[in-house]
Amino acid sequence: MSAVTTRKDGDVLVVSANNPPVNALGYAVRAGLQAAIREAQADASVAAVVIRCEGRTFFAGADITEFGKPMQEPGLGVVCDEIEASAKPVVAAIHGTALGGGLEVALGCHYRVAVPSAKLGLPEVKLGILPGAAGTQRLPRVIGAAEALPMIVFGDPIAAKKAHALELVDQLAGEDSLEADAIAFARDVAKKATHPKSSQRTDKIEESKKDPGLFERFRKENARKLNKLEAPAACIEAVQASVELPYADGIKKERELIMRLMASTQSRALRHVFFAERAAAKIDGIPADTPTLPIKKVGVLGAGTMGGGITMNFLSAGIPVTIVEREQAALDRGVAIIRKNYENTAKKGRITAEQVEKAMSLLTPTLDFNALADSDLVIEAVFENMDIKRDVFRRLDATVKQGAILASNTSYLNIDEMAAETKRPESVIGLHFFSPANVMKLLEVVRGAKTSPAVLKTSMELARKIGKVAVVSGVCHGFIGNRMLSQRQQQAQALILEGAKPWDVDRVLTEFGFPMGPFQMSDLAGLDIGWSAETSKSASVRDVLCERGRRGQKTSKGFYDYDENRKPSPSPETEAIIAEFAAKSGKPQRAVGDEEILERLLYPMVNEGAKILDEKMAQRASDIDIVWLNGYGWPAYTGGPMFWADTVGLDKIVASLGKYGVAVAPMLKAKAEKGESFN
Ligand code: 3HC
Ligand code: NAI
Repeated sequence: MSAVTTRKDGDVLVVSANNPPVNALGYAVRAGLQAAIREAQADASVAAVVIRCEGRTFFAGADITEFGKPMQEPGLGVVCDEIEASAKPVVAAIHGTALGGGLEVALGCHYRVAVPSAKLGLPEVKLGILPGAAGTQRLPRVIGAAEALPMIVFGDPIAAKKAHALELVDQLAGEDSLEADAIAFARDVAKKATHPKSSQRTDKIEESKKDPGLFERFRKENARKLNKLEAPAACIEAVQASVELPYADGIKKERELIMRLMASTQSRALRHVFFAERAAAKIDGIPADTPTLPIKKVGVLGAGTMGGGITMNFLSAGIPVTIVEREQAALDRGVAIIRKNYENTAKKGRITAEQVEKAMSLLTPTLDFNALADSDLVIEAVFENMDIKRDVFRRLDATVKQGAILASNTSYLNIDEMAAETKRPESVIGLHFFSPANVMKLLEVVRGAKTSPAVLKTSMELARKIGKVAVVSGVCHGFIGNRMLSQRQQQAQALILEGAKPWDVDRVLTEFGFPMGPFQMSDLAGLDIGWSAETSKSASVRDVLCERGRRGQKTSKGFYDYDENRKPSPSPETEAIIAEFAAKSGKPQRAVGDEEILERLLYPMVNEGAKILDEKMAQRASDIDIVWLNGYGWPAYTGGPMFWADTVGLDKIVASLGKYGVAVAPMLKAKAEKGESFN
């Protein structure tokens, strides 16, 4: 079946695109649209045209898989121009999402009709580019620069109702009668003598000209947020051109900017992330027809930091949770924190008071382990101790109904050892959430040696349902994320003993794009996690900091000193403690440059990533990137550790690791020698 077909409904030519799954505007669709518009011009019996899409959505954008390849004519800009130049009015009939090139097609049309559930947006900036088919010039002409700026610079879509209020959408259609409503609308407007052409409109531009400070203000207000990103700055420049330059010159500017962005490393990285995220959902080595298990009721064991956060994910998705604790006080505390978190979200206006109560009504707190019996999935989040975990799995095996999934949230421990305590190892899996578990997007799904395909597939689908980005990991100490983190931590500790200051280490990482560095992170989490006053023997910098009451932000001092507003400053006491340890090590402290700090923190992580891949603990290099982007704040515009390594050059990384005395992973070495990359 061809990507674009036409049919006549009386005097209206109905043009239907069908390019599953999201009607991306690939070559066949562009050519089809162009032919359909030409057909309408040539046919005297046609008075108006409706452009609509089959399937779940209006055009969701240009076909991203065509990026970086030679463009097959007609380009999307040409198609949009031909639509606009049509002597007969063209109406876009929008459902699902009109995104990127999709909205640009709609802006080329003279009119737009949409169902209320539709969303319209220009998300190109999230791919490190900008709308390249006149979107930056037509949208401000239709809704004004002040409204167009955030849509183009942040890339978030707006709802059809808002679009209607902004006059981006001319009429809202019935949810189930879009095609008929659009045809009726087209027939109606065909009676008019002239039709609005977005590119020629001046009314909104004249209004925008009355506020010449708009762009500078916008740049200033968002400077921090947009800091290292190249595309948002270019988006602002393009929208500014729409106000300050004639249309044709604005288009030239847009062209210039998109060509530059398209070739940038940031854009390549962000496009990599788009596809990497979708690839991560795919599980190697299981049959496509693997069934999934219904998850209607969840049990959580342990109402501590993680148990509470994990529970919230399911409550928010409308799935009832039974949460079990050892003692009443811990249970009450856990439940109170869940409620407080929801109430805080409600205070910020992000959910309603009814939604808070609805979520809480789905929660059953209890001390009775047997209450887990009829759960479809139980996730344990008790202390990180193998003996305790083993005991828990024995009890789960004895209590929970057959067929249920038995999951551990362990950070490091061996899932197979837990599974071995049960008579149903095929039902056991790791579901490793990240703290705060109600916020962080990442879920590592740890596939045990005997985990069944159905349990694995169900876990991946469930992750999507609760809004997580899931990545499959094999069983190894710390799985993908924490295993690589350990490398960075070791280097951070070594660096401060050699003479780098903790604040320099943190600064180098935040300059790279992380939200915080390892010492800021330790202070925030609390240095005394896993530390005990009774057994502490001043064996490490951390021990001594804790012994001296420097336990992190909560005690107003840790690696840093904190003022009453939690503003950190370098601590002379910390420096002295480090210097003492350095003296004991016998190595003189020296000045350590920023480049060395960055290389020593990040290259060993890439090295560990190569080992993880070699051992098949990760399915693909891009999965490792997704773990670090969603679980640890690795900056997306560098693509994640493995993509970034490719941009640095594997040979350079290998040479540097050698220089710092790190044993190079065989896979990394081999790839570097052959001139290969991870992606
Ligand atoms: N091009 C090519 N493939 C695309 C695509 C696109 N624009 N958008 C989605 N896909 C593919 C996905 O890769 C995925 O493929 P897979 O099944 O093989 O993994 C499949 O379509 C389904 O996508 P999702 O899993 O994301 O489906 P959802 O239903 O969750 O989401 C969506 C649908 C909201 C449309 C989402 O896919 C999306 O946001 N897409 C990207 C939209 C976008 O960025 N558009 C702008 C493109 S750039 C552009 O238009 C430039 C122009 O200005 C010239
Ligand atoms: P926590 O100490 O905050 O909570 C553990 C809770 O489990 C306590 O409330 C305790 O009373 C309860 N508990 C202990 N034994 C129990 C039992 N037999 N039955 C019922 N309840 C029991 O610990 P946290 O931080 O929530 O960690 C839990 C698990 O999650 C650990 O395996 C940890 O490694 C893992 N994890 C922790 C992360 C973190 O950042 N804190 C991140 C990811 C995983």
